[in-house]
Amino acid sequence: MFALSVVGALVLAAPAFAALGRPILFSDGLSPHVDSSFWAHLNPTQSTWSQWDWGYTPQTCYNNANSNGVSPYDFEIFAVKYTDCSNAWVLRLMGYGYFPTLSSCRHHNASLSQIDMIDLFGRLPVHERQWVRHIIAVPGGGSAYMSNADVVFQGPVGTPSVFQHEVGHAVDFYKNSVRSSGTSQFINAINADSCVPDSYANSNEVEDYTQVGVLAMYDIVNPGGLDGIGANWRCLVNQKNALDGFQRDHMTPGGACTRRWADDVTVKMGPAVPRQKRAPIEQASDLPVPGPSYVAPHAFQNLVFNATEQLKAKLRQAAWQKGEAATV
Ligand SMILES: *[C@@H]1O[C@H](CO)[C@@H](O)[C@H](O)[C@H]1NC(C)=O
Ligand SMILES: *[C@@H]1O[C@H](CO)[C@@H](O)[C@H](O)[C@H]1NC(C)=O
Repeated sequence: MFALSVVGALVLAAPAFAALGRPILFSDGLSPHVDSSFWAHLNPTQSTWSQWDWGYTPQTCYNNANSNGVSPYDFEIFAVKYTDCSNAWVLRLMGYGYFPTLSSCRHHNASLSQIDMIDLFGRLPVHERQWVRHIIAVPGGGSAYMSNADVVFQGPVGTPSVFQHEVGHAVDFYKNSVRSSGTSQFINAINADSCVPDSYANSNEVEDYTQVGVLAMYDIVNPGGLDGIGANWRCLVNQKNALDGFQRDHMTPGGACTRRWADDVTVKMGPAVPRQKRAPIEQASDLPVPGPSYVAPHAFQNLVFNATEQLKAKLRQAAWQKGEAATV
């Protein structure tokens, strides 16, 4: 009995995904090759936002606070309404009598500001965004992960490529009926190719798929496409074509959202919240709930930030909040 259960535990503890061990296209990661074009060509989406009163938080923010070693009390919870996911057509189509918002959680000491979160998430195509439930920012050394369709940013990772990578995990796991990165089409494509994007992609097929997704996004938004990236990217053309088949339609900017997840349940931040304090009004509950998923944190290196774009995002957001047109 004892031996059997040890074997069982070993099987369960074994890594779910194997390292690929393939030659790599870029030895310094993807950010130095894609982010300056992303900053210029992934355009922000107009939005407004509002703060939740202190005291309540989505369950996932409570859980991720605890797993990150910070207090759920020290979070700002805010709701973002993007114009491409709040129009009357979407409301009628979905049959819900409320404006869909993205409930987001930020620890007071997170490197990402609320504006960074709103701006960077809003630069991604709406059909990618619609596979994410909540976005969360906590302090940390510069890493990020995806769990249950929620994306968690730990420390200074405010670049479009990191957002594309993490949101890309949600698209991989949830858009198609099976995880796209685990299909024989994609595994065969890895084997048919002579490289993967970078050493991070070599971690396993899940990270590889999502890094190929970053390059596929570059192909879509960079004038001249991937041929402008300054390296022979065709060593991964089979992976890129396979990924395009799975999700290129959802990576193309424009349009309006066609679905959303139910928000996670709202809970008190903890016992210090006064007994009579009321929870925010619950949204419609007949929306789909994401099945479990988890992709471990990855530490990003050589990220290309852009302080000018960050400042512009602040000015834009302030104008939109006042109902004015943005001039930057
Ligand atoms: C930031 O992005 C803008 C728009 O793409 C670009 O013009 C500018 O050169 C970038 N600045 C830095 C410091 O990278
Ligand atoms: C934020 O960081 C400062 C400086 O490291 C620290 O003193 C403070 O306790 C932190 N606040 C929270 C809420 O973690």
